[in-house]
Amino acid sequence: MSVRIRKAIFPVGGLGTRFLPATKAMPKEMLPVVDKPLIQYAVEEAQAAGIEEFIFVTGRGKTAIEDHFDHSFELEKTLEERGKTAELEELRRWLPKPGRVAYTRQMAPMGLGHAVWCARDLVGDEPFAVLLADDLILADRSCLAQMVDAYPEVRGNMIAVMDVPREHTKRYGIVDPGRDDGKLVQVKGLVEKPTPDKAPSTCAVIGRYVLEPSVFRHLDKGTRGAGGEIQLTDALAAMIGAAPFHGLRFTGTRFDCGDKVGFFEANLAFALARPDIGAAARAAMQSYV
Ligand code: G1P
Repeated sequence: MSVRIRKAIFPVGGLGTRFLPATKAMPKEMLPVVDKPLIQYAVEEAQAAGIEEFIFVTGRGKTAIEDHFDHSFELEKTLEERGKTAELEELRRWLPKPGRVAYTRQMAPMGLGHAVWCARDLVGDEPFAVLLADDLILADRSCLAQMVDAYPEVRGNMIAVMDVPREHTKRYGIVDPGRDDGKLVQVKGLVEKPTPDKAPSTCAVIGRYVLEPSVFRHLDKGTRGAGGEIQLTDALAAMIGAAPFHGLRFTGTRFDCGDKVGFFEANLAFALARPDIGAAARAAMQSYV
């Protein structure tokens, strides 16, 4: 089987209740970090990793995402008339090619495993990526690109991992680690959101996956796990032994944008890292600390 990773799934069906009222009429994935929506960071990360087909698993109230990844005729025409060529080029740079974006609706909030399963026919029989836009990663080489680089050596299933404080294990899928060379960790077991006393380690799954299409056969069963949801973690755990499974300790800083403080911190870090506003952002920040 080819190891080129061409397709990526973006599960964007979640309600975003943690960000109300901002997400009452707007998808949480459209929340901007500095001036760019979270979902665009994820799409650009995928593009930097060579992804060519973009599959969004959406839900009710998410049409702003479809509009975002389409031409905006009036806007582009106005920019053109005003001679704003740089802005126009920037607006078109990250648009996926026509016919390379697909949207399917999850229809019921049944968990991440179910969201990924909804895209099964759009993925077909080839390895694919999954990116969760809530996990925003500041890195020189995109996190997914680092995974795609490492994938041909190991194949099977691959997840991005990082160590988290033990008191936070309940927020993540947690790895039971085997061989570990400091970069690639063999996954011997995987548990969704264990309490700190039950967690097999502090090595946590971050929302980037490169997966075998055989994962769909496990998701077909629709088994409910933690929180009564169909968990991707459980399907991956069920494949251990049948397919290689590795965690990649990526290089970069990850921000939990599903959390208010994490989102605030992402805004700080991304503003400070920007060549155009970094210095001004630093000066503004200094007056508060
Ligand atoms: C999901 C996964 C979990 C993973 C996390 C990373 O959880 O189920 O295994 O560690 O993403 O952000 P969620 O944050 O959607 O509850």
